[in-house]
Amino acid sequence: MGFPDIRMRRLRTSATMRRMVRETALSVDDFIYPLFVRAGTGLKKPIPSMTDCFHVSPDRMADEAAEAADLGIPAVLLFGLPAHKDEKGSEAWAENGVVQEAIRQIKKRTPDLLVVTDVCLCEYTSTGHCGVIENGKVENDVTLELLAKMALSHAQAGADIVAPSDMMDGRVRVIRQALECNGFDNVAILAYAAKFASAFYGPFRDAAESAPAFGDRKSYQMDPANAREALREIALDIEEGADLVMVKPALSYLDILRRARDRFDCPLAAYNVSGEYMMLNAAADAGLIDRDACMMEILTSIKRAGADIILTYFAKKAARLLRS
Ligand code: PBG
Repeated sequence: MGFPDIRMRRLRTSATMRRMVRETALSVDDFIYPLFVRAGTGLKKPIPSMTDCFHVSPDRMADEAAEAADLGIPAVLLFGLPAHKDEKGSEAWAENGVVQEAIRQIKKRTPDLLVVTDVCLCEYTSTGHCGVIENGKVENDVTLELLAKMALSHAQAGADIVAPSDMMDGRVRVIRQALECNGFDNVAILAYAAKFASAFYGPFRDAAESAPAFGDRKSYQMDPANAREALREIALDIEEGADLVMVKPALSYLDILRRARDRFDCPLAAYNVSGEYMMLNAAADAGLIDRDACMMEILTSIKRAGADIILTYFAKKAARLLRS
């Protein structure tokens, strides 16, 4: 049987018909909204490299988070810009650090909103690397202990989910152990499991002031050419105790998302990163594309590829559109 018995256009005849047969539905429940906490008080300043994103001090962070919560977004992800950086990134695990303080403020105002924290040293180290440098190299095993301290301090401040993004080997295991040993057995780990050494992080590194002072991240983040290796990374993080796993970036890695969805059963997240976000904004600002339509198409493509959860700077905008 073929044409004219089969006419694919029959199921596209009306908006209602299309709605009924639609395979992928975006929901506000899918989103995690990233926020940048910066040392200071009374601060809310636009981030030059990222449209509609702000540096916000801990005392004003509850307002930002409440806005996301009011839109129905289930979770925010916190990045910290400390007052001082040093070689080890010691403000990363300070009890009164910027992220720790922001967590407490958010939890006071919106206790039901999930707080996810980025666990990585690059915003805290004077070198801008995600680990400690010894003999000119990022030292894996020395870094693990610091990451565990950082994750634990986030849990102590009230984080619901810690998200290691450093790509050191074995970090999920040491973080899981630190949480278990200190009574935080219900704090979940969202592992940036397959994180690629991507040029699409550019606007974020300006925003987070976390560009490496020398070299690059290719000895710890993954080679963009490798898909099988990404599946090994994900399998290892699940084995080490990750509750949720992530592929990052999203758009150039939709094939990895699909393969990960087919192979693993735990919740799968995708990070629609800063460069992806700003490519769309730049094209829209130039009058070349329709911002909202392209945004929804991109987010839908990430979900269709297999992501259950999407970390995106578009979360609030998309939530508003989904509502209307
Ligand atoms: C920290 C971190 C980065 C991003 C998230 N966590 C930057 C990097 O690895 O250099 C990128 C996020 C984005 O580009 O939106 N390691």
